[in-house]
Amino acid sequence: MIREILRMGDPRLWQPSKPVARVPAPDLDALLADMRETMAAANGAGLAAPQIGVPLRVVIFGVDANPRYPEAPPVPYTELVNPVLTPLGDAIEEGWEGCLSVPGLRGVVPRYARLRYEPLDPQGRPIAREVDGFHARVVQHECDHLDGILYPMRMRDFSRFGFTDVLFPGTGVVDD
Ligand code: NI
Repeated sequence: MIREILRMGDPRLWQPSKPVARVPAPDLDALLADMRETMAAANGAGLAAPQIGVPLRVVIFGVDANPRYPEAPPVPYTELVNPVLTPLGDAIEEGWEGCLSVPGLRGVVPRYARLRYEPLDPQGRPIAREVDGFHARVVQHECDHLDGILYPMRMRDFSRFGFTDVLFPGTGVVDD
């Protein structure tokens, strides 16, 4: 079922989410099915459970020919339960981000360039992946939602924050 995506200003987006207690579980599978459908309908690159009002540590992401991010390199579709992120090194990269909870806007956000993420998969098996670049950015953005953080709270330069169609006219980047 396609769920309503909460928008910035809704206090539920500022709340830290709780770990999922039981994995696998039918209610987790149902949550993930709704998240997949909701993300696909919105052309999102990722979605975190609190964005649909469910305060649990679950995120999904994946990028493949996305009209919201035509320049983005592909990121494999992935589902994370109770993820733990560990930065690898101190290197920071800046890059443009958008968010389905902040529709119509983009901003430049500093993120760790490389990190390891260690979640459970929906069957309860531990995963460990080391990633960099846009993949690392997407993971950090989505996992921030689990701590009640939206990307504008990470920004340092508000001269690089604005409406997508004003920032990128004629480039084919579409937004809500
Ligand atoms: Ni977001």
